[in-house]
Amino acid sequence: MSLARFSQACENNKQPIIEQLKVYFSTLSKVLEIGSGTGQHAVYFAPELAHLSWHTSDRVNNHDSINAWLAQYPSANLYPPLEFNVGVNPWPLNDVDGVFTANTAHIMQPDEVELMMSLVAQSLPSGGVMCQYGPFTFDGRFTSDSNRAFDAQLRAQGYGGLVDVSSLKKWASPMKLAECIDMPANNQLLVWRN
Ligand SMILES: C[S@@+](CC[C@H](N)C(=O)[O-])C[C@H]1O[C@@H](n2cnc3c(N)ncnc32)[C@H](O)[C@@H]1O
Repeated sequence: MSLARFSQACENNKQPIIEQLKVYFSTLSKVLEIGSGTGQHAVYFAPELAHLSWHTSDRVNNHDSINAWLAQYPSANLYPPLEFNVGVNPWPLNDVDGVFTANTAHIMQPDEVELMMSLVAQSLPSGGVMCQYGPFTFDGRFTSDSNRAFDAQLRAQGYGGLVDVSSLKKWASPMKLAECIDMPANNQLLVWRN
């Protein structure tokens, strides 16, 4: 039985996301993905971004699925998962000039999101870029009723819930929010620059 898990959301959002990554990661050389999940994003994005190396990471319980996707769709610039559980492990990779993370902030607890943002800000060089995809709130407001319902469901399950962009701005300092791009299904792509 394959260990590769499948996410329909990844299938739906991978094309709109890669279109933006081709723009914002065009000059980068080494990207760390935080919370690679199933591994589907990594195998789709890496061959489309052949000028850089793509380094997956996640908690250990997701490594089997990531490795299974990588085994099925290998790419010369795509690397096996590093153990990176924010709040537990130290920053896992040197000389990273880009970070990608999707749908992690609303799963993490707020103190973990705060730590993730500050670790990224400390680790990226001047000119480094973080692309952060997911649903967020803006000044406490939801962008849709479905996101409000999703937030309630997440919190009831013990997850952190949707994070406000104003908190992210504070935690990401001195990184600056350079772009906030509306994406399908009431998601955003936040582009942070150091
Ligand atoms: C909803 S999944 C998203 C996975 C994938 N990025 C995607 O878009 O399908 C949330 C991911 O965040 C990861 N995660 C949650 N808390 C984390 C933490 N403290 N440190 C690192 N990753 C974490 C989970 O292991 C999981 O892979």
